[in-house]
Amino acid sequence: MLNLIIFGPPGSGKGTQSARIVEKYHLIHLSTGDLLRDEMENGTPLGKMVRKYIDKGLLVPDEIVLKELYQKASTHMDAPGFIFDGFPRTIVQAEALDRLLEKRNIPIGLVISVEVDEEELFRRLMGRAEDSGRSDDSDVIIRRRLEVYKQQTHPLIAYYRKQGKIITVNGMAPVDEVFGKICQAVDKHLIDQNSHSVAK
Ligand code: AP5
Repeated sequence: MLNLIIFGPPGSGKGTQSARIVEKYHLIHLSTGDLLRDEMENGTPLGKMVRKYIDKGLLVPDEIVLKELYQKASTHMDAPGFIFDGFPRTIVQAEALDRLLEKRNIPIGLVISVEVDEEELFRRLMGRAEDSGRSDDSDVIIRRRLEVYKQQTHPLIAYYRKQGKIITVNGMAPVDEVFGKICQAVDKHLIDQNSHSVAK
């Protein structure tokens, strides 16, 4: 089983790269942003509640996100693996994910951290705002999302570095190039994983 996390600030290309990774490695894409936006679009009570956070550029409370994630993941437990996109975003979420996966003996294999300069992130998201229809793609809210990332999510880099699972990729490069670097890292991880299991 191959479990990956694609990690990075808003606009770093997590969604763009996830689509390609899913196609190449046949993983299930779990994007908490997409799950929460579906609830908003369907006008569910949960959607109405999470909108209060998303429209302000704030994180949705951990317990809500975790419940959504568990529900979705549990319907795909026979999958060849998952790519987590936009999750985890807090230490509480990371610890909960570790517990969930370790219980099933399917831990996270690799965390791919995509690095992009802040002004480029802002430029990309303002560009996307022209046709994304996303209520959180506006200049003030984008700035807040970037700030929230720095304060609440960036510390996860140290969390995964301690576990020896993180690799960094230059996300300033063109999409194909970024994808190439990600594939190199994932393929190396798969080779290492296989040689460990043969050695056992
Ligand atoms: P979420 O949906 O996760 O959004 P995000 O992290 O803000 O990231 P984006 O989707 O904006 O960007 P991305 O990194 O996927 O980049 P993309 O590929 O789209 O979260 C939204 C909100 O939901 C949060 O603010 C929070 O409120 C809530 N939420 C979600 N998960 C949560 C959680 N776990 N806990 C609590 N709350 C949660 O690319 C962006 C643009 O750049 C596109 O136009 C793309 O074409 C372009 N682009 C991509 N790659 C490149 C490249 N290499 N070169 C040039 N342009 C590029």
